[in-house]
Amino acid sequence: MNLIESSDYNDLSRKAANVISAQVILKPDCVLGLATGSTPIGTYRQLIEWYNKGDIDFSKVTTVNLDEYCGLSPDNSQSYRYFMNHNLFRHINIDIKNTYVPNGLAKDYEEECRRYDNLISKLGGIDLQLLGIGHNGHIGFNEPDVSFEKTTHIVHLDESTIQANARFFETIDEVPKKAITMGIKSIMQAKKVLLIAGGPDKKGIIERALHGPVTPDVPASILQFHPDLTVVYCFE
Ligand code: GLP
Repeated sequence: MNLIESSDYNDLSRKAANVISAQVILKPDCVLGLATGSTPIGTYRQLIEWYNKGDIDFSKVTTVNLDEYCGLSPDNSQSYRYFMNHNLFRHINIDIKNTYVPNGLAKDYEEECRRYDNLISKLGGIDLQLLGIGHNGHIGFNEPDVSFEKTTHIVHLDESTIQANARFFETIDEVPKKAITMGIKSIMQAKKVLLIAGGPDKKGIIERALHGPVTPDVPASILQFHPDLTVVYCFE
């Protein structure tokens, strides 16, 4: 485990973007596993800046996102597809056809989960998976007590996750209660994992996840067993 402390959110974002940009430079046709939430926004902003300077080329990169809310269309401003288009994809030279997010409007969610798993395996797996962490230790939308054996699946979101995500919606009733997420097994199969956590409110859960017992109560704790884990954090 490689633990990298940063001085503030900008420093965290620059360091995380450096790791991602090194991956793209070393393997221009890499598969990046991407995440949503507020933490990665600065990382994406930094990548866009370096792209604009001519330092990174995304033309051969493929991306697969961790998760999507059930029932939200790609043009709903709270959907994760919308988030990715607006915070990253439309600002860089990635081919949008090579960007994948689970389909929140799939008619058959079980089939969508299998399609997503097949897609990842056809792409040859994920070279670098970026992760944020929820206050209860969730990664993607793998809530506490999830089986570590799961690949892509449907989850019922925890009350605490619904509360935490309510800040993005007009009313709490609008927050979707279900989501499609890559499972812990899918995440653990990524060749490299980059976990980012910023803010004093993440200190406790990061300590439990990285230094506490490995348990489904804290889904992120399984990352202690990942052979190539980098954690960039700042608790200021
Ligand atoms: C959501 C996402 C997670 C993310 C988490 C934390 O629940 N599904 O992937 O890690 O939020 O988000 P934030 O970075 O806003 O704290």
